[in-house]
Amino acid sequence: MLVKWAFLASLVLCAAATPSRRSYDTHNYYVLRHNPSISSGASLDDVVRTLDVELVEQAGELQDHWVVRQRKPQFDNRGLSEDLVISTFEGLKARAESSLDSRSDENDARLARRVVASVDYLSLQTLRQRVKRAPPPVKPPTTGSSLGVAARFGIEDPMFPQQWHLVNDEYPAHMMNVTGIWDMGITGKGIISSLVDDGLDYTSEDLKANFDEDDSYDFNDHQKLPTPKNFDDHHGTRCAGQIAAEKNGVCGIGIAHDSKVAGVRILSGPITDVDEASALNYGFQNVSIYSCSWGPPDNGQSMEGPNYLIQKAVVNGINNGRGGKGSIFVFASGNGAAHGDQCNFDGYTNSIYSVTVSAVDYQGLHPYYSEPCAANMIVAYSSGSGRHIVTTDKGQNSCATTHGGTSAAAPNAVGVFALALQVRPDLTWRDIQYLCVETARQINGEDPDWEATATGRKYSYKYGYGVLDGYAFVKAAEKWNLVKPQAWLETKTIQLNNGTFGTDKKYQGGEFIPAGGIESKMTITKEMLAESNVESLEHINVKVWINHASRGEVEVEIVSPGGIKSVLGGARSGDRDSSGYPGWSFMSVKHWGENPVGDWTLRVKDQNKPDSNGTFLGWNMILWGSAIDPSKTIKYEVPLVNDLLPPVEVPHRPIVPPAGATSSTVQHPKPTALLPGDHGQVTGENSKPAFPTSASNEEVALASASATATSTPTPAATGTADLGWFSDMSSLVTSQKWFFVALGAVSLFGIGVGIFFWRRRAALRAANYTALDNEGPGMTALGTSLTGGPRTTRELYDAFGEVSDDDDDDETTALRQPKQQQSRMTGGGLGFHSGFLEDDEMQTAATDASRYRDEPEEGGLRQASEPPKGRSLTTPTPEQARPASRSDSQGSWEHTSRD
Ligand SMILES: *[C@@H]1O[C@H](CO)[C@@H](O)[C@H](O)[C@H]1NC(C)=O
Ligand SMILES: *[C@@H]1O[C@H](CO)[C@@H](O)[C@H](O)[C@H]1NC(C)=O
Ligand SMILES: *[C@@H]1O[C@H](CO)[C@@H](O)[C@H](O)[C@H]1NC(C)=O
Ligand SMILES: *[C@@H]1O[C@H](CO)[C@@H](O)[C@H](O)[C@H]1NC(C)=O
Repeated sequence: MLVKWAFLASLVLCAAATPSRRSYDTHNYYVLRHNPSISSGASLDDVVRTLDVELVEQAGELQDHWVVRQRKPQFDNRGLSEDLVISTFEGLKARAESSLDSRSDENDARLARRVVASVDYLSLQTLRQRVKRAPPPVKPPTTGSSLGVAARFGIEDPMFPQQWHLVNDEYPAHMMNVTGIWDMGITGKGIISSLVDDGLDYTSEDLKANFDEDDSYDFNDHQKLPTPKNFDDHHGTRCAGQIAAEKNGVCGIGIAHDSKVAGVRILSGPITDVDEASALNYGFQNVSIYSCSWGPPDNGQSMEGPNYLIQKAVVNGINNGRGGKGSIFVFASGNGAAHGDQCNFDGYTNSIYSVTVSAVDYQGLHPYYSEPCAANMIVAYSSGSGRHIVTTDKGQNSCATTHGGTSAAAPNAVGVFALALQVRPDLTWRDIQYLCVETARQINGEDPDWEATATGRKYSYKYGYGVLDGYAFVKAAEKWNLVKPQAWLETKTIQLNNGTFGTDKKYQGGEFIPAGGIESKMTITKEMLAESNVESLEHINVKVWINHASRGEVEVEIVSPGGIKSVLGGARSGDRDSSGYPGWSFMSVKHWGENPVGDWTLRVKDQNKPDSNGTFLGWNMILWGSAIDPSKTIKYEVPLVNDLLPPVEVPHRPIVPPAGATSSTVQHPKPTALLPGDHGQVTGENSKPAFPTSASNEEVALASASATATSTPTPAATGTADLGWFSDMSSLVTSQKWFFVALGAVSLFGIGVGIFFWRRRAALRAANYTALDNEGPGMTALGTSLTGGPRTTRELYDAFGEVSDDDDDDETTALRQPKQQQSRMTGGGLGFHSGFLEDDEMQTAATDASRYRDEPEEGGLRQASEPPKGRSLTTPTPEQARPASRSDSQGSWEHTSRD
C-alpha cells in the first residue's frame, strides 16, 4: 500500500511540474493513454515497466495521457523496421490473445492482457516543423491624425495616430471601435491572452509590464521563457502588441492595454503533437484566450486538421479550461484565398471550438488573401488597400508598420474578447461565439456574397456575420444571459449504394457523380432533437466520404429544411489530390439559430470532366446547439476512430487506432507564398463571389432517388446513450480527488517515495521482469534479441526528477531523427487494440482501424500510381509508406504562420 501511495504521489509530482526538457537525439518519445479505471487492468507502473519505457510526465493537461520515452539504440539499425516500444506492445497484444499452453505462459498472458486492457492509445511522437513566412517588404503607411482620442486618454505613444484599426480618421466606420469601451474604464484588466506563436519579446518596453511569465513557455527549445531567438521571430510579439501594448509612450497601444499576454512558442522549430497539445492547454485555468495565427499550408491544395492529441487538447480546453467555462480559441482564417484556398479545408479553422476570424482592410474591403468559408464567424481589421497594422515589434523600443494578413485580424478580435471578459468573466466559450453572431456589423451590404439566413441575419463566406465591433460586443456582453450548456445530435450515417471506406483506405461502392451532381437527403425530426436534448441550433458538422480522381473539382453544399444553403467546399483548381474526402468534416455557422426540423439535402457536384470522375459514398451530420435540459447534458469527448464508413460505433472510452497513428512521417513541400508580399497594397474588393462559379449545370436532374431511399436516418447515440462518458467523468472526478489527496500526501510520503524507488529498483532487478522478458515469442519483441540480454531497468524511474540524467544534454530544435524512426514507423504490424474493455475478454475490433499517410506533393501533381493521400487515424502499411520516407530529414507537417 505504501508503495502504491508513493507511486501516486510521484505521479502527481510528474503532473504538476512544468514540461521537462526533451532529448530527441537520444530518446524516442511516446504518448500512451492509461485507463486507471479498468478493474482488471495493469497499473501505470506495470505498464511502464512492461513496455520498458521511462515515465516522463503527464501529457500536458490531458488526463490519463502520459509522455514516456525510451533510449534510442546505440548502434546503427538501418533495416530495423520496427519500433521497439510499439513492437513490444504488439507482442503483448499477441500474447494476450494467444491460447494458453503452459503455466508460465499463462502468467505472461495475464500480464499482457492487463497491460493491453489498460492502454488504449500509444503513439510515437515525431517532430514536425511549422514554418513561418518572412514578412513582405512594404512601404511605410501614411500618417493619420487621431489627436482628439490621444488627448482624451492621455495617449503619448508616438505611433498611436497610425493605428487606424483603433481610430480611423479616413474611414471612421472602419475600426475596431473600442474607444467607447475605454471611456468606460474597461481596458482588459485581469484577463490573460496566450499568443501561441513564435515567441514574445518580454524585454520590449511596450510589453514588459503586461507580460505573464507564469503562463509562458517555449515548446521549441523547452525553456521557460518564450524568447524570440530566430531573426524572423517577431510575429508573436507583433500580435501581442495588438492586444496588450502598454499605454506608456512607446510605439502604439493595444486594444486591451491593461490585459496580460503570455507567449507560448511553437512556431520556431519542429515540435511533436504532444507539445502542440500541451501548448494549447498551457496555463489553461488562468489564460482566457488562445490567439492562434497559424495552421496547415494555405496553398489551396492541402486538406489537413489537428491530429488526435491536439483535438483532444482543444476539447480539454473547452471542457475544463478556465474553470470549466472553456478556453477561447481564436484562429486566423488563412491567407490562401489567392490560391483558391478556403478555411473549410483546414481542420483548425473549421473546428466548432474556434472563433474563426477573416480580414477586412481599412476601407472595409475584402483583401484578396483572406480565405472564405462557411466556418468564418467574423472579420476584423487588417492589411490591404495600402495600409497595414501598426504594432509593437521585437526589440526594446520598436514598432512594426507592415504587420497584416488574417494573422493580424485574429489578435484584434482577441483584444475585444479580453475587454468583454473583464466585464463578464463568466462568459463561456459559446457565449463569446453567440455574441459574435449577434453583434457583428454588416459591411458592404451590396456585396453579392451576403445571403439571408433563417433568422433574418445576413451571412457571407467572406465576412462571416460581419465585422467585429468592439463597442457593440462589449455592451452586449455586459447584459448577456448565459446560454444553456451544449448538446448535440449525431445522425446515423447514410451510405450510398453500399459505399464503404475501410481500414485499407479503399473506397468501395458509392454512387457515381453524374453531370449535374448528386444529392442525398436526411430527415431530422422533432423527436430526434428531443431525444438528443437539443433545443436550438448553433454549428453543424457535415462529414463526407467522396472518392474522386481530382479532389479540387468536387463541390459540396448542404441545404437546410428552410432552404438556406451552405457551400461547404467550393472547387479548388490547385487541388488535384486523388485521395478524395475520406470522412472529412466540414463546418458551417450559417445555420445558427435555424429550425433544423425537416429534410437536409447534401449536394455533391464535380466539374464533369470525363477523365476525372468520382463517387459519393456517404455522409452524416452533427447538429450542435443548446440543451433543452441542462441537467442532462454531458461533455463531448473526441473519439479515437472516426473516418471509417460506416463509422465504428464509438463508445466514449473509444476504440483505438493503431499505434503510431498520429505520428506522420512526411513532409509537405514548403508553401512558396502564404501571405503575399503585397498583402497591404492590393486594393480590396466587395463584389466578387467567394467561390469559383460552378461548372455544373444546376438544371440537370439530380440522381437523388436511390440515395435517399437507401437509408432513413434515425437519432444516433448522443446524450443519453453515451454512458461511457459518465464513467469517464467519474474517473476524472476521482483522479482530481486523488490529485488533492495525493498532493497532501506528497510531503508525508516524500520519504516513502525515496524508499519506493530504492526498493523498486532492487525489486526490478529481480526475476520478475527479466523472466517475462525472456519468455515466449511475443516477448522476444521486447528486445532481447537486439540487446542480447535482459533489458536494464536502470532508466525506468529516472524521469521522476525534474531533470533526469540525460535530459540536460542537447534538447534539439533541429530535426535530426527521422531516418531511423521513419523506417521503424513505416514497418507494418502496428495494429492496435481496443483496450477499453473492462474484462479479460479480448476484442480485436478495429485493430488497424485506420491507416495514416500523407505524402509530399511534387509540383502539385500526383502520380497516378501512387496510393491515395489521406489523413486518418492510422499507420501506413509498408507499401504505402515507402513513398513517404523519401522525405528523409525534416519533420513532416509544415505549418505556416499567417503573417
Ligand atoms: C462604435 O461605437 C459607438 C459608440 O462609441 C457607436 O455609437 C457606434 O455605432 C459604433 N460603430 C461605429 C461603426 O462607429
Ligand atoms: C493562476 O492564478 C492563481 C490566482 O491568481 C495563482 O495562484 C496561480 O499561481 C496561477 N497559476 C498559473 C499557472 O499561473
Ligand atoms: C448492398 O449490399 C447488400 C448485401 O450485400 C445487398 O443485398 C444490396 O442489394 C446492396 N445494395 C445495393 C444498392 O447495392
Ligand atoms: C471514370 O474515369 C475513369 C478513369 O479515367 C474511366 O476509365 C472511366 O470510364 C470513367 N467513368 C465514367 C463513367 O466516365
